[in-house]
Amino acid sequence: MNADPNPTVFVLDGVNLGTLGQRRPEVYGALTLKDMEKLLREEFPSVTFEFRQTDHEGEMIEFIREAAGSAGLVVNPGAWTHYSYALHDALEAVDVPKVEVHLSNVHAREEWRRCSVVSPVVDAVVAGMGARGYVAAVGYVLSRVGSR
Ligand code: DQA
Repeated sequence: MNADPNPTVFVLDGVNLGTLGQRRPEVYGALTLKDMEKLLREEFPSVTFEFRQTDHEGEMIEFIREAAGSAGLVVNPGAWTHYSYALHDALEAVDVPKVEVHLSNVHAREEWRRCSVVSPVVDAVVAGMGARGYVAAVGYVLSRVGSR
C-alpha cells in the first residue's frame, strides 16, 4: 500500500509539444505547456509533479525510466505515438500506472494518426479533450495509487 500523501506523477510531453500555444491552436488549443503545468498544479495541489518535454526520443526514454517507482505517468508522445517501438518497449518495461494522452481526437484526423504503437502498453488512453485530458489522466493515475 502506497501511503505517500504527496504522490509523484510524471507528465511527459514528446516531440513538438514544446511549441504548444503557437502550433495549430485550432487543433491543439491555445494553452502553452507552462499553462498546462499551472492548470495541473491548481487541480492537484497535493501532487508532486515532474514535468518534462523533449524533442529527443532517447531523452524521453530516460524520462520514462525515471518514472519507475513514481505514482504513475501521463505521456503525450506526439508523433512518436504512431511509430516509435522504442517508446513502446520503454513504457512496457516500467510498471507504474500509465496514461497516453492526446490533445486532439487522433481518430477524427488523418488515417495514420489512428494507429498508436504505445496504446497496447498503457493502462488508458485519452484523446480529444484538450488540456482537460491531462487533468483526467492525472486523476486516473491518482485513483490507482496503492493498487500495484
Ligand atoms: C498529438 C497527436 C499526434 O498525432 C501529433 O503528432 C502531436 C500531438 C495530440 O496531442 O493530439 O504532436 O499527440
